[in-house]
Amino acid sequence: MVALRSRSCARPEVKIKAAHDRLFPRGVLRLLEKERMRGDFARALTLLLLCTSVCVLCAWIAADCGLLGLRAVGHARRDSPKTFRALLALPAAQGLPAVPSATPGKTQSGANGTHAQSRGRNATSWSPELIQDGVFWSERLEYLLPCAFTEERASAWRDGVRGRRVVALEPGCGRPSNRLAVFADGSRACVRYGISAEQVQGETLSYYLATLLGIGNLPPLALSRLEPTGDQWAAVRDNMGALQWRATSVVSLTEWIPGLSGAVVPGPLRQGGEGLHPLREDLRAKPVAELLELLEWSDLIAFDFLTANFDRLASNLFSLQWDSRATDRNVSNLHKTPGGRLLLIDNEAGLVHGYRVLRMWDRYHAAVLGALCVFRRETARRVSRLHRLRDARERLQALLRENEPLAPELGFLSDEHARILQSRIDLLHEHIQRCREKYR
Ligand SMILES: Nc1ncnc2c1ncn2[C@@H]1O[C@H](COP(=O)(O)OP(=O)(O)O)[C@@H](O)[C@H]1O
Ligand SMILES: [Mg+2]
Repeated sequence: MVALRSRSCARPEVKIKAAHDRLFPRGVLRLLEKERMRGDFARALTLLLLCTSVCVLCAWIAADCGLLGLRAVGHARRDSPKTFRALLALPAAQGLPAVPSATPGKTQSGANGTHAQSRGRNATSWSPELIQDGVFWSERLEYLLPCAFTEERASAWRDGVRGRRVVALEPGCGRPSNRLAVFADGSRACVRYGISAEQVQGETLSYYLATLLGIGNLPPLALSRLEPTGDQWAAVRDNMGALQWRATSVVSLTEWIPGLSGAVVPGPLRQGGEGLHPLREDLRAKPVAELLELLEWSDLIAFDFLTANFDRLASNLFSLQWDSRATDRNVSNLHKTPGGRLLLIDNEAGLVHGYRVLRMWDRYHAAVLGALCVFRRETARRVSRLHRLRDARERLQALLRENEPLAPELGFLSDEHARILQSRIDLLHEHIQRCREKYR
């Protein structure tokens, strides 16, 4: 059969028939012929099955590639209005408005947006200058936006939470591996148990990077080690067992913030929006509360760019490819406090995981940053300092060690990831400088 099969692949057919006749008697040949036909049929059937499988596989891969962004790349090349780039395209610089001289007001820190209301957050429009030095939100506007969670407040929360006993672990913090911890005094925190170590690392390092940048829109965080016999966890030892939480694992606790609501992408960053830049005519007419939210969005974009966190704005806009109403929906991992402040939760995709999959998401992070040319002055100042001194790694590690006794157990950025962080700081700094030149 092997010989026959190899011959049947040979050409021309006439030669094959002659060879058969010479080598085999007629009866044997008939038998062989039957066998051959049966074989051909079996082979044809196999071939047919193979083709069908390949077709099904191709169709599946095509659909999946679309989901993974290959379709987006194709769209981007054709500049369809649904492309990510088109969504976030900045208009070319036109004439520059006259920027009156700065009228600085001291930026203060407060808690959770309450000062902001008394400072005029509810005013219907903004009369003083809105942008200073070309690309910075005015200091008077910043004055209305005290830090949502100051370092002092976060530090006091950490000190307190470390000594509290957990009396219940309940649902209420997302996926089953997260738990809402209720403490003996009635206070609460979200516990994140990492299936892989990089989750708690990403969450924690992102939190401290935000602190380093002076971005106070993340709920206070503290690390804790799961000690089933220790004071903090003993009362919920059985629950921990049922959850299959490994003893001695390091988990993150984040302060539970009551009364959260959803947050959507603001107009300038939506489909068809022109991006957030100083020349937008409509900014001045916006109610102050909306301007303050845009100011927080500036920080959000800068922060998610640095951490390469795809699990917020980037993924929301990315979804537009198959869900044209994606930007009408709440952005994942973003909430508003009752005081109207943006709250960036679930930052575990930042820095570690985000850097690992950077190749896939970088163009989207870059596109989002490309849509932003207005910055909070303090954030830009701190980025510029980290750029100049090239000490992002050392400062982040020092801050972590200072505040977290469990820092050595958590681990830190690898050399490669520390380099990526520094290079993203450089990129953000350069982007801010380019905006300054453009809108000077
Ligand atoms: N610190 C918090 N304060 C209040 N609610 C929270 C907090 N963290 C998480 N939640 C609630 O849990 C939900 C899921 O949180 P998230 O951390 O994104 O979980 P997941 O890991 O499942 O994505 C949030 O949408 C919010 O309702
Ligand atoms: Mg989440």
